[in-house]
Order: sequence, then structure tokens, then C-alpha cells
Amino acid sequence: MRVVLGITGGIAAYKATSIIRLLIEAGHEVKVVPTQNALRFIGATTLEALSHNSVDPDLYTDVESVKHVELGQSADLIIVAPATASFLARYAAGIADDLLGNVLLTSRAPVLVAPAMHTEMWTNAATVANVETLRSRGINVLNPDSGRLTGKDSGAGRLPEPEAIVEAALALTSVRDLSGKRILVTAGGTREAIDPVRFIGNHSSGKQGVAIAREAVSRGARVTVLAANIEGLQISGATVIATDTAIEMERQVNHLLQGTDVFISAAAVSDFRVAEVSATKLKRSQLGDQINLRLIANPDILAGVVSRVREEGLDVRTVGFAAETAGTQWALAELAKAKLGSKGCDVIVANDVSGSAVFGSEHNDALIITKDGEQKRIAGTKTAVASVVLDILAEL
Ligand code: PMT
Repeated sequence: MRVVLGITGGIAAYKATSIIRLLIEAGHEVKVVPTQNALRFIGATTLEALSHNSVDPDLYTDVESVKHVELGQSADLIIVAPATASFLARYAAGIADDLLGNVLLTSRAPVLVAPAMHTEMWTNAATVANVETLRSRGINVLNPDSGRLTGKDSGAGRLPEPEAIVEAALALTSVRDLSGKRILVTAGGTREAIDPVRFIGNHSSGKQGVAIAREAVSRGARVTVLAANIEGLQISGATVIATDTAIEMERQVNHLLQGTDVFISAAAVSDFRVAEVSATKLKRSQLGDQINLRLIANPDILAGVVSRVREEGLDVRTVGFAAETAGTQWALAELAKAKLGSKGCDVIVANDVSGSAVFGSEHNDALIITKDGEQKRIAGTKTAVASVVLDILAEL
């Protein structure tokens, strides 16, 4: 998606760098349009480097490309953050005396405005009236956060956090094709204790599962995430439940399955656990040079869900992931088909985890195969992969 990010002249302008980063990471193209005053707070070079696009707020350069019209017409979404009181007044009055003002008037894209100013300015009757005017025209104006302001004062007027701005902005464009659907996603990596100190784990960061959850929320789904060892995870609009071992995850999945429409098993689940977990720390001095750990198989959570769906006649679509070290696309496809068959799920998302390409990365290169034989390859951000997986589910 092509996003125009307008920045106006306030101290919070530096936070626009995080907004750009979040948009780029989510796979969007970002064109930054600062006002001249914004450039007193943040340099064009920084904005160009982060957005990978040139930045020129002058209305009268590159005139032959009619850039104010081109930018406005080609934008899929416009965000103005931070928005000053002065900007709100000009926008409410329809004044187009700079590039940003022109872009806003030539665009039909949804607009999200994130104001930031001192409390007195935010509550001033003029600002209140301007915000009302903009909202009455369908412009989405966020309320600022409360907290520490630029001076010694505190109160309403802080720029909302970049994550909240981006989430609210993207929600304006998202298709609500999963509206009301209840989706259960597992994410992260389970850990199997050896003793109170050590565990057997894996490299999953949870990013792919979390991307699916966030994307599903923005498409209207009611999402629950079973987060295996993802510290401090919060997803606005979703319920996040922390989990740890495969056994614990299985218990939670079984508890939550009734009433779920879609189960997405993105977590890396340990296939084995330690048979006898030591209650006290194993001491090297007592163990010698070798240690034998007896491992026993963990339940296959996904296969268990598929069995329940069949046996209990539940109306649940099931998505499995296949983490393979395939080497080639052909080999990945063969392994994916085999896993689709052995797990019995409706869709399998195969990714080649050789090297460090997937675990912990913002990107993935996935082959998605449905039980009807439909195949789709998607290489991009984990959000982009999430989006395609959900497109397929929406069809199902
Ligand atoms: O978390 P990231 O850093 O973003 O990395 C993403 C990922 C690589 C972890 C993710 O894209 C992924 O591939 N997840 C599944 C990892 C995995 O366990 O693959 P598997 O091939 O071993 O398992 C196949 C499927 O069975 C998976 O859906 C898995 O959740 C499920 N499973 C596996 C074992 C088990 N005992 N119970 C299960 O339900």
C-alpha cells in the first residue's frame, strides 16, 4: 500500500521516524511530506533514509510532475503525525498553501490525523471546533495521549505511541472480511524443562504468529493468541494468553477450541519432552562428562485438533505450519504436501528455516498449500505472509 506520511512542526516530529519504520516493516511504501516547520525538528536526510524515498516539501520544485496531485491521487492512506493546532486549523479551513495541504485536498484516501500539542491548545475552543469540523467530514482524528509534555507540565496532548497510530491508520483501509470470526493462533516456541534452570527450546520468536494475529484483528476477527514464551506480548484488540510447554499449550488449545472458527498453529512445538524433570538443579560436578536425557513424545496438538474437528463434527478450519530445512522450492513443496497429509489440516504454510532466514526475522518466504491442491508462494514481510494466509482462509 502507498502511504503518505504528513509531518507538521511539533517537537513530537522525531517520533515520525518510528511510524515510518513500522510502515516499512509492514511492507508498505512510504512517501513523507513534511511541512517546512517540521524540518526544523527533523532532517529530510533522516526521513529519506528511513522511507527509501526522496523528501521535498517545496510545492514549486518538480512542478512538471504535478506532484501535489500525483501524491494525493496515488495515496492509499494518509497519516498526519504529529498534527499541530495550526495544521488542524488550516486543514479544517481547506487551506492548501503548502505541499501537504495540497496533497490532502487532492486525495480520496482515508486520512488519520494524530494531534500533539500542549493541553491548553488542545482544549482551546478554536482547536475543539476544528477537530469537530474535520471529524464531521470523515477525517479520523485521534485523541492525544495524556502524560508528560515538552515543558515541565503534564496533561492531554502527547502524541499517541507510533504503534497505536499505525494500527489505527491501517485499520482504516483493511478489509473486514473476517468480521466476527473467532481465530485461535499459537505463536512462539514451547520450552520443555530439564531442571529448574534449563530447558529444551527452539529459535521461534513468535513474530510470524503475532503477525497473523494482528492482521486478523485488523480484518475484524476476534483473536486469541496462545503465546509460548514471548515476553511482554500485547496485541491491541486480541486476547493474549501466555503458555510454556507443549502439554500446557495442548490443554489451553483443547479448552478454547469449542467456539473457535479457525485454528492456526504457527508455534514451534517441541516434539519431545524430558521424561524425568529434575526437581533440583543438575550439578555438573555430580554428572561427570556425559548426561543422558530420556525424552518422550509430546502430543501432536495440531493433529489432535484435526481429530477432534472430525470426531465432534466441529466447524473449524485448521492451518498448520511446516518448518523445514528443504534447500529447494521443489523439496519444500514435497515436504509441505507430506505434512499436509500427515496432519490432516485444511492449509499448510511451509517455510524453509535453513540458516537464519526465518526465525526471528521480519521476513518470510512461504509456500501455502490447501488440501484442495491450491498453491501460493509469498516472499515478503511476515505481515505480507499473514495477509495471504488470511486471504485463503477468508475464501475457505
Ligand atoms: O516465530 P518466528 O521467529 O517468526 O518463526 C516462524 C516459524 C518458523 C516458527 C513459523 O513460521 C513456523 O514454521 N512454525 C511451525 C514450526 C514447527 O513446529 O513446525 P513443525 O514442522 O515441526 O510442525 C508442524 C506443525 O505441527 C506446526 O503447525 C506445529 O505448530 C504443529 N505441531 C508440531 C509439533 C507438535 N508436538 N504439535 C504441533 O501441533
